[in-house]
Amino acid sequence: MIKDLSSFYSKNALNMKRSEIRELLKITRQPGIISFAGGLPAPDTFPVAELQDICSKVLQEKGSTALQYGTTEGEAPLREAIAQWMNHEKAAIKADNILVTAGSQQGLDIVAKVFVDPGDIIIVELPSYIGGLQAFTAYRAKMIGVPQDNDGMRMDKLEKVLEKLARKKKRPKFIYVVPDFQNPSGVTMSLERRKKLLELAYQYGVPIVEDSPYRDLRFAGEPVPAIYALDDQEQVIALGTFSKIFCPGLRLAWIMAPATWLDKMIVAKQSMDLCCPTFNQLVAAEYINRGQLPKQIEQIRALYGRKREVMLKALKKHMPKGVKWTKPEGGLFLWVKLPKNLSANELFPKAVEEKVAYVIGSAFHCDGKGQNSMRLNFSFPTEEQIEEGVKRLAAMIGKNM
Ligand SMILES: Cc1ncc(COP(=O)(O)O)c(C=O)c1O
Repeated sequence: MIKDLSSFYSKNALNMKRSEIRELLKITRQPGIISFAGGLPAPDTFPVAELQDICSKVLQEKGSTALQYGTTEGEAPLREAIAQWMNHEKAAIKADNILVTAGSQQGLDIVAKVFVDPGDIIIVELPSYIGGLQAFTAYRAKMIGVPQDNDGMRMDKLEKVLEKLARKKKRPKFIYVVPDFQNPSGVTMSLERRKKLLELAYQYGVPIVEDSPYRDLRFAGEPVPAIYALDDQEQVIALGTFSKIFCPGLRLAWIMAPATWLDKMIVAKQSMDLCCPTFNQLVAAEYINRGQLPKQIEQIRALYGRKREVMLKALKKHMPKGVKWTKPEGGLFLWVKLPKNLSANELFPKAVEEKVAYVIGSAFHCDGKGQNSMRLNFSFPTEEQIEEGVKRLAAMIGKNM
């Protein structure tokens, strides 16, 4: 056996990094720890009984198709159902614009595979979704981070970056944004910024990748149109997923893009897995066609809305002065900023000693900064755990200030 494989690895493989979150999650599974570190949906929202019924119906009526290989693009009933689902935002979307993927994580990998050569530039938010950063890193992209404030990515800063690159005759391969209740910060991009983002994307000829798993989980504030819905020049690739509004275990999501853009992505997916599980796709299509999704989303929104309230109240009650946090209008996460002299990385072992866990903010920064920040998840812990966990976290921070 060859003991050290490193000289056999491709440059891409050598560049791949383990997700810090996955590593942290191992620690946070110790007994007694209240974990705000994961990003899991609350399992009590999974529609188990309904799915039992749907699974046997699919097997009975469509067993021979459901258990067979399917097309790479995805099963027609599901592509149709997704296109219709997206039609409430933009009527022009057809099944031809949809590629079914094994989670949006595969969508990100496909996008990176199709667009990125080593050294290519991608623009991301600061902070940004760690799984996106991981996918882009695997293809050796050079990421440029653009800071965020409470209205999303700063367009003045983006404009400067694009201008500077244009002067050097460089063009980023795409701009990656998570505009709704962002993972990790919980921030939503304002309408004005969305319009400006499109304007800049048109001006500099750069595609936008809009990754929005939490879009339907709004529990406060006013809805803002999706970027793809505002796009009249077909320059947006939109990623949607059933993970947070239905069940992540089905591993079903989609890429929505102009049909001609999808071609290459379909070929890229072919060599990954040939197709997504046909059975799961037909189950999901039946679930949507029964009209269950809006009810399911309503229930999830009510639950996460309550949990978010409990977390915000607990933060207000327990956190020492100088600690700040976002107030997300939806989604699963909020973002805590500690005073500049404190490092969430250094405090992490102390939090684990106090039996509470979070994800360090620097893990979401392509530039390695953000040491004084952390991400807290409120969808998975119970309301009691949220209250108790925030109390423990606040006491630990207070002791170290
Ligand atoms: C912004 C973002 N994109 C993509 C994903 C991946 O989701 P999926 O379960 O569809 O692979 C996540 C999951 O947390 C996410 O937060």
